Amino acid sequence: MPAFPTPKQLWRDVRVFDGLTQLDEPMNLLVEGERIAGLWPVREFDEAFAQGAACAGRGGVMTPGLVDCHTHLVYAGNRAGEFEQRLEGASYEEIARAGGGILSSVRATRAASEDELIAASLPRLDALLADGVTTVEIKSGYGLTLADELKMLRVARRLGQLRPVRVITTLLGAHALPPEYAGRADDYVALVCDVMIPAAAAEGLADAVDVFCEGIGFSPAQCERIFQAAQAHGLALKAHAEQLSNLGGSALAARYGALSADHIEYLDEAGVRAMAEAGTVAVLLPGAFHVLRETQLPPIELLRQYQVPMAVASDANPGTSPICLPTLMANLACTLFRLTPREALSGMTAQAARALGRPDLGRIKVGSPADLCLWDVQSPAELAYAVQAGRLRQRIFNGELVHAR
Ligand code: NIG
Ligand code: FE
Repeated sequence: MPAFPTPKQLWRDVRVFDGLTQLDEPMNLLVEGERIAGLWPVREFDEAFAQGAACAGRGGVMTPGLVDCHTHLVYAGNRAGEFEQRLEGASYEEIARAGGGILSSVRATRAASEDELIAASLPRLDALLADGVTTVEIKSGYGLTLADELKMLRVARRLGQLRPVRVITTLLGAHALPPEYAGRADDYVALVCDVMIPAAAAEGLADAVDVFCEGIGFSPAQCERIFQAAQAHGLALKAHAEQLSNLGGSALAARYGALSADHIEYLDEAGVRAMAEAGTVAVLLPGAFHVLRETQLPPIELLRQYQVPMAVASDANPGTSPICLPTLMANLACTLFRLTPREALSGMTAQAARALGRPDLGRIKVGSPADLCLWDVQSPAELAYAVQAGRLRQRIFNGELVHAR
């Protein structure tokens, strides 16, 4: 007998959405230590399984902890002024080309200390956690110098120590061309490849590398160099691609075996096919579509046809998606992109976990890490149907009850 027996917790009579589908019958779910140890239909439950287990909850809807697989949560300042400018007719690209947009957040973020960035980012992280997130990806990309990119990544890692949440970090050095490199984009790309990526890899600060493949970002050829450097350092790949135009960034990412291509409003059939062949996840970002009042819809029907896995994320950032309410993303994915509630919820659990290279997460099945949410709703679809904060009754992180109402 171990000196401290593994704690056992039992949830009774819960409706389960397992990350892919809703289970037909009410279930009992047993967690032992950090893992899901048992899952039985209530009517087949043998009370012997409850031996030594504390009853942790009864009723409600149980989902995997939500996985927000694309955020820019760490930044200073805000861009409410640009929101107003856009409402007066300026476009996102015009503002960017005039030195605002991402570069405006870069100025504020460079001026902020690590502690100031922590203080600015924690309320946003807390908002995600209060709406069910147990894993969050956080990108750099508002530093654009070696020191400032590493500062952002360190802040992201520290956030994961300050709160019960898994943080996956992504180096997005190629987010925008910093002003000191104006007219010398290839030199900046060399800095990303030869200095930032090796440093982030050596310090264990980045799990993946992302690029913004776009007219106001970086060309496919530049992105390809960055992918090669990232691969040489064993880092996973992601891309912001086909958000505002079709440059073939998603197909390029797929060719390099990227985990995901994100945004993809302008993705064409060849791009969809390339992603299907490579197993690259399509990360849909309806918050950015909504805030930018875009009209070009991502090719959802083609993605379905080619069975490209679809994830849904908040893209929480100061410019295009200042929104930290993940269940609203499920709603927007349905209302704007016509996903089914099942697809949207799967997109925020199992498929999002795949987009992070963590297929062990985002599922309710025996053996999985016990990252779970218990919601006060009648059916999983309600999470996408209604927009309402405060429905989370319990959040369980790695087997521990970390939020209870
Ligand atoms: O995901 N498209 C590029 N990057 C972000 C926006 C960043 C910003 O505007 O600050 C996005 O939409
Ligand atoms: Fe983004």
